Amino acid sequence: MRILHISAECYPVAKVGGLADVVGALPKYLNNSGQQCSVIMPFYDVRFTQNHQFETIYEDAVLVAADNFHFKILKLADQSKDFDLFLVDIPQLLYKNYVYSHDDAERFTAFQIAVLQWIQTHQHKPDVIHCHDHHTGLVPFMMQYCYRFENLKNIPSVLTIHNAQYQGWFSHDRIAMIPNFDKQHVGLLDWDGSINPLATAIKCAWKVNTVSPSYMVELQQKANGLEDLLSHESAKCLGILNGIDTTVWNPTTDAFIKKQYSSSSHINGKKVNKKWLCDTYGLDFNKPLFVFIGRLVYEKGSDLFPQVFKEILQENDVSILLLGSGDSDTENKLIALREKFKGHFNAYIGYDEELSHLIYAGADFLLMPSRVEPCGLNQMYSLTYGTIPIVRSIGGLKDTIVDIDNDGYGFVHEDTSVDQIKNAMQRAAAFYDNTLEFKKIRTRIMKIDHSWDNSAQQYISLYNTLKN
Ligand code: ADP
Ligand code: GLC
Repeated sequence: MRILHISAECYPVAKVGGLADVVGALPKYLNNSGQQCSVIMPFYDVRFTQNHQFETIYEDAVLVAADNFHFKILKLADQSKDFDLFLVDIPQLLYKNYVYSHDDAERFTAFQIAVLQWIQTHQHKPDVIHCHDHHTGLVPFMMQYCYRFENLKNIPSVLTIHNAQYQGWFSHDRIAMIPNFDKQHVGLLDWDGSINPLATAIKCAWKVNTVSPSYMVELQQKANGLEDLLSHESAKCLGILNGIDTTVWNPTTDAFIKKQYSSSSHINGKKVNKKWLCDTYGLDFNKPLFVFIGRLVYEKGSDLFPQVFKEILQENDVSILLLGSGDSDTENKLIALREKFKGHFNAYIGYDEELSHLIYAGADFLLMPSRVEPCGLNQMYSLTYGTIPIVRSIGGLKDTIVDIDNDGYGFVHEDTSVDQIKNAMQRAAAFYDNTLEFKKIRTRIMKIDHSWDNSAQQYISLYNTLKN
């Protein structure tokens, strides 16, 4: 089947979080199973793509409200072995310092219209259009109800919800951005008084999935206002757990880490990587090393870290290293803590892909006290690198991590609270002292298969239900 994925992010070109990892991996695994997947995303700026070559394969103009923008479709020349990657280049709208920006409603509406204009010209149209998150949420609606996209009406569409917190809302005053459509269906664009691209996609896509089964159940109870809609549409909804790309995330081949290792050589391998991390960040190698990698946002529970770290560093002999950026109040508190607990705590405020690999490899325990976690990839990377996850039981974390006391391999806490995070860290620190068990668990977690192979088959089954 020809499947076109439409996404705001795709690794390695532009990544903010797990969306990029998924869109950069799933098509590859689907193609290995005989599908013909390609991906189309915005071209943000040359800084994102410096090491790549492109060819222009299509040019046109896109009309958004009263403004006309010239655009090009570029094809990445060096990606062909995995999947074709196409980019929509609209310099006036899409070039920004960052992937996302305050005028995303206009940027992503233009992107989506441009994608559909281009697909219209294909002799062999996709068999399935696969949209990811709200940035591509107007596509299923436009294909069905915009007069100019009449010839795309019968192409099945799938929406994957990676994160329902963000819905892409914009006001009805801007409805003219959407090309002329059958006004009988205007209600499909609305949710609670705003145009809500995520809600529209849930209503119009032929199938909807979340990135873990538990997240789908949770969303039907609490989904930032969309819970009733998701319950109403439950017949076409399901959860498919994300996988990980083992060609990128694999300690036996990872070129970023200081020493490669496997489940049979992790004792020395992890030691070398931990030593490098502790030397580089001024931490004590002999203590258990707890880490966090991620966006510093409320959903991740990271606002509690300053208090948790302060208390635990006062009471226990541990080292902590954090890599992340986001909420400025949390950043500032972590910077202050870094000064106060030099030698025990360090934080790299920013984004660094290479360092993230080094941290997964060198750490003993990874923290994920998320309030909301649609799937979470970090815990799976962590297991693959022999680093034991400490997670809150929610969404994809609930579906992937079993507590050590239940014959599992992680530390699980029920709520996102200072006391519970601290308690889980203390259980982990005590476990670290039991050297034999600690080594055994590492060997065990490194052998768990989280690759995309299984989940890619579930997507294929989903696509098969859509065949005309
Ligand atoms: P989310 O998509 O909600 O941010 P995921 O767990 O699905 O969470 O994926 C996060 C991805 O982003 C992982 O690949 C993680 O390693 C990466 N990541 C997050 N923050 C940083 C950072 N500051 N530096 C490097 N990588 C990061
Ligand atoms: C989102 C979610 C995260 C998930 C990722 C990839 O960003 O927050 O939990 O792993 O998408 O699906």
